[in-house]
Amino acid sequence: MKNKRISGFSKLSKMGKIRWTVETFFNDPEEVINELMSYWHSDEKEQKILDGFSENTISNFPLPYGVAPNFKINDKFYVVPMVIEESSVVAAASSAAKFWADRGGFTCRVLGTTKIGQLHFKWAGNILQLNSVWDELEEKLLDDAADITKNMEKRGGGVREIKILDFSHELENYYQLRVEFETCDSMGANFINSVLESFGTSLQEFCMNQSTFSVEEKDVEIIMAILSNYTPKCLVRAEVSCKLSELGKFPNNMGPEEFAMRFHDAIRIAHIDSYRATTHNKGIFNGIDAVVLATGNDFRAIEAGGHTYAARSGQYRSLSNCTIENGVFRFWMDIPLALGTVGGLTSLHPLAKKSLELLENPSATELMQIIAATGLAQNFAAIRSLVTTGIQQGHMKMHLQNIYNSLNANEEEIKRLDHIFGSKTVSFSAVREALDKIRNNKKIPK
Ligand code: MEV
Repeated sequence: MKNKRISGFSKLSKMGKIRWTVETFFNDPEEVINELMSYWHSDEKEQKILDGFSENTISNFPLPYGVAPNFKINDKFYVVPMVIEESSVVAAASSAAKFWADRGGFTCRVLGTTKIGQLHFKWAGNILQLNSVWDELEEKLLDDAADITKNMEKRGGGVREIKILDFSHELENYYQLRVEFETCDSMGANFINSVLESFGTSLQEFCMNQSTFSVEEKDVEIIMAILSNYTPKCLVRAEVSCKLSELGKFPNNMGPEEFAMRFHDAIRIAHIDSYRATTHNKGIFNGIDAVVLATGNDFRAIEAGGHTYAARSGQYRSLSNCTIENGVFRFWMDIPLALGTVGGLTSLHPLAKKSLELLENPSATELMQIIAATGLAQNFAAIRSLVTTGIQQGHMKMHLQNIYNSLNANEEEIKRLDHIFGSKTVSFSAVREALDKIRNNKKIPK
């Protein structure tokens, strides 16, 4: 029996880590090593950069990098880079982008760029005491953090507001500094966290030096200092609209009015029912995450903040909205997106850099608009399919290629299979059966 536990793994060389992992868990270590190494970057320097992003890196994990053209956003055309493994996502985004480009395109607007950080602390005093010395305390917090904030201030950002919040009724002695930040074109996580940690130290020093404070009141226990990924004030709106008649015709002879009503109902349902809202919003994040990832941003942060925003009424609901008024179909979404176009992985990851170049090096606010439009396009495409043909037709068509690959179908076989399944809803077993018949030269039933 091989020992599956190890200490000092992180100190092994990269090759040492690979060897231990594959020799412990695989029957044919040499083959697995070759496979892992086959995904290494051919340029050693580039691979070193990739290795540096994380700990214990032994290989790279390839995902498709696609582009969705024809995104007309605020009258400018974009080709949007998307990293995603789900087969129909890029096709759906492209198709919705083209649909709306023919109808005026997306109108996007940034509603705010404020980010939030929190210093959570325990203090055995009365909030009124801290309030009475607030001006002096605030000045010290800002002065002590000046070394960290001066560059951001030069770029137009910095600390915007500091509030003390009293949560001692929920948890004994628990208070919070809630701090608002402007971080310009950077996502700002490191900046915010550094400022918050500095605030923690300053708060402790300040209380320690208050001659009017009791021994207990001089003592501040910092529990944690960290940004919040809920950024409801870092918000962008993406919107499309057109006259009902301009929506055109849909499959199964569906006219624009019927389509619009069914679409409107689908959005209402996602506002009423959280089970549906979750899937509905997942469709939005299919688009959002793919661009967030392609531009080297943090998709977990974006997801977390977006889902909290979707639940801001107390119930988890659709992020998108639809109205049909005075013969106009309007579809829009407000979504918090805390993004960066400088710093972090954005300039380190070679393809993230290329994505930003492809988008013509947008500012963070421009990127917010591009990503919100992609999310809305994705949502439009999903709901359009759901209320017309059903989702499986498009999905399985895209998925067919995966099925062919997994069955090792050759070109000739694919041609024949496409002929059979091109416009049908497919299942893996139906394709396998048909392929077996082709291979056994049997007649395939129509
Ligand atoms: C699949 O990845 C996304 C959808 O389920 C979204 C939706 O149901 O709205 C199609």
